[in-house]
Amino acid sequence: MTTSPRPVSLTGIKPTGVPHLGNYIGAIRPAIELTDRYDAFYFIADYHALTTVRDPALLDEWTRSVAASWVACGLDPERVTLYRQSDIPETFELTWALSCVTAKGLLNRAHAYKAARDRNRDAGVEDLDAGVSMGLYNYPVLMAADILVMAADVVPVGRDQVQHVEYARDIAERFNQAYGERYALRLPEHVTSQDEAEHTMPGLDGRKMSKSYDNTIPLLGDRDALRRLVRRMKTDSTPVEAPKDPDSSTLFQIYRQFADEAGTAAVRERLAAGGLGWGEMKELLFEQLDAVLADPRERYRQLMGDRRELDAILAGGCERARERARAVLGGVRGAVGIDA
Ligand code: TRP
Repeated sequence: MTTSPRPVSLTGIKPTGVPHLGNYIGAIRPAIELTDRYDAFYFIADYHALTTVRDPALLDEWTRSVAASWVACGLDPERVTLYRQSDIPETFELTWALSCVTAKGLLNRAHAYKAARDRNRDAGVEDLDAGVSMGLYNYPVLMAADILVMAADVVPVGRDQVQHVEYARDIAERFNQAYGERYALRLPEHVTSQDEAEHTMPGLDGRKMSKSYDNTIPLLGDRDALRRLVRRMKTDSTPVEAPKDPDSSTLFQIYRQFADEAGTAAVRERLAAGGLGWGEMKELLFEQLDAVLADPRERYRQLMGDRRELDAILAGGCERARERARAVLGGVRGAVGIDA
């Protein structure tokens, strides 16, 4: 019996820090859920991180931390192809071929590049390109190559990355216009969560949890640190007895992402009824997080403590990913007249 291959889901994770609770809810958990229905290719975008990370020890540390976190959170490396971007030379070769069909104007309009120019303009800097590297400028072409080299069907991303996936599609269309009769690249689609709360999980100060606000809670840090940070979360001065609006409570917003329906409903009622103070709510949140994260934390510690297991997982992923990438790159090379 032959089974038709499942559609491919692909995403890249930039190793620019240790994963936090917001990454888990916004990216890790939804992407792992997709692995039931898709053939998943997930990778650590270490060369993308090089546009901002200048410390080699940190780049290595964060690359391993991201890979270990995903595995610890339930990604099954037997079923999911987990790999490092830098292990796939085909991606970088494809980047050049794509650059040659990509309009420069497209990159001039990319959000991240425009934002860098706006910052210069606001600061009164005369050269609007000051501080812009070619890495930042070409970032969308490398990302298009990541996606197209694996012939991905869907790309789960946060909203800030939607433009990049659209660019990948545009660039593939340009390639196909030129060479499609000889070889056509598969056109990818982005998927973003419909659940608003997943995009906006609050951090310590109540703003969206984000590394750039320095308000994050590490996902798999130790238990004491977790308790300390939860206690530090900002609350208002509503007295214990007063009824509280669960939907405007940052503690509850985090709680409900980690609890089941019954648990969420029970806490919602207690807050609305009054009598549940913020101190106790913090304790409930900590206990809930700890219950969900205790096992992943242990697995993470193992993986970070011994490089060999993680290296073996990434080597296996590299082998499977390269096999797929080689097939696409072979088609591209033939189409453009190199090794045709
Ligand atoms: N640019 C993405 C981010 O900053 C990371 C990334 C790199 C990516 N290559 C990708 C995401 C390919 C999806 C597909 O989050």
